[in-house]
Amino acid sequence: EGTTRDDAAEALPYGMPYQRETRYDPPTGLMDLQSKPLRPIRYYPDGTEGWLVTGHAEGRKVLADPRFATGERFTHSPTELPHVFVSISEQVPPGFFLFFDPPEHTRLRRKVTGVFTVKRMKDLEPRIADIVDAQIEALRAAGPGADLVREFALPVPSLVICEMLGVPYDDRAAFQANSANMLDLSLSVEDRNKAMAELFGYLMQLVPAKRADPGDDMLSVLAADPEIHDVEAAGIGLILLVAGHETTANMLALGTFALLEHPDQMAKLRDAPKLMPAAVEELLRYLTVAHNGIMRIAKEDAEIDGQLIKAGQHVTVVLQAANRDPHKYERPGELDLDRDAQGHMAFGHGVHQCVGQQLARVEMRIGFAKLFEAFPDLRLAVPSEEIPMRSDMAVYGVHTLPVEW
Ligand code: HEM
Repeated sequence: EGTTRDDAAEALPYGMPYQRETRYDPPTGLMDLQSKPLRPIRYYPDGTEGWLVTGHAEGRKVLADPRFATGERFTHSPTELPHVFVSISEQVPPGFFLFFDPPEHTRLRRKVTGVFTVKRMKDLEPRIADIVDAQIEALRAAGPGADLVREFALPVPSLVICEMLGVPYDDRAAFQANSANMLDLSLSVEDRNKAMAELFGYLMQLVPAKRADPGDDMLSVLAADPEIHDVEAAGIGLILLVAGHETTANMLALGTFALLEHPDQMAKLRDAPKLMPAAVEELLRYLTVAHNGIMRIAKEDAEIDGQLIKAGQHVTVVLQAANRDPHKYERPGELDLDRDAQGHMAFGHGVHQCVGQQLARVEMRIGFAKLFEAFPDLRLAVPSEEIPMRSDMAVYGVHTLPVEW
């Protein structure tokens, strides 16, 4: 009574707080919104009403619910900087299955799930260990001090995904910069789309080459598959190439930084290497590098926990908040390698849950273990405040990590 719809809209928080006050914690303004874990907010650029999910249980409900789709054009952003979904959805490449809903999504994703099973990843371990060893030698050779991102954290996952896909690593100048630019929120949507188009073009010319001269790699298999068009093979390659190295690279670098700054936790891990799998889960939870918000659009009116989300409205699930939901985790703001972090949402949830998660886990377990073993006195080479944080990138982390040993 007495309040108009406009007044109510006026009272809604505008957007999702994004700029952090500290290196590892989500913004306090974002965490404050957890008092109402599923709430209406206003979206950029014009204040249109949408939803923000900061709770763990609520986030899972939305991401598991087929009424919330990704196969739509995202027109609004929960952050001032245009969201990565907004730019990509302007021109989704064929095959880029993150942006398709079932049954199309199912058809395309099925073409790669077999390659990323726990069993297949187990078989890949020796090869990943070799790649890690070689990069540790490269890091040592670049020393006595070096940038861990450049010499180790980026090349390891990049080499692994290139080898799996059959993308020549020697072409990395053509794809590392473009794949970083696709996720650089400080660039215009136009420039991000240009980077994506270049990368897609690069993969498009690889597909027929693979069919003509097949190797023991995924692109060759996709190129030979009669159920998949060349453009789809290129699109599947694109999503794997980008997702495959940006995310794990940032976990390796930011994870190392966080452990160096939590020496008690680092000591725990050095004393008990068996802790590694649990430690990796806790680092995934605590750091949640996919911090841009997972967006969906309601295909129809949908009631969740008594609140009506209207058809066409944007919903953003904030993984870094869900992973610090006090209803799910005790002392959520603490990095505690002894805790059971299972059930975290760092890889998302539902049908789009990360297809590369087993690979990422193996890369991190082997990567951290060998790095800390090779450099028992690894330390930062500059004061921690001087480390440039990736606040304006869709994947959080550090731009560089100068270390010495
Ligand atoms: C999806 C995070 C590593 C490939 C996702 C999603 C998240 C995520 C949050 C869900 C996106 C959504 O629902 O909208 C991560 C993190 C990683 C990682 C934190 C490393 C620590 C990898 C690797 C690969 C990969 C190594 C590939 C080799 C994919 C693909 C999807 C995906 C293809 C889309 C799945 C689909 O739509 O069905 N990832 N990822 N990711 N990830 Fe990862």
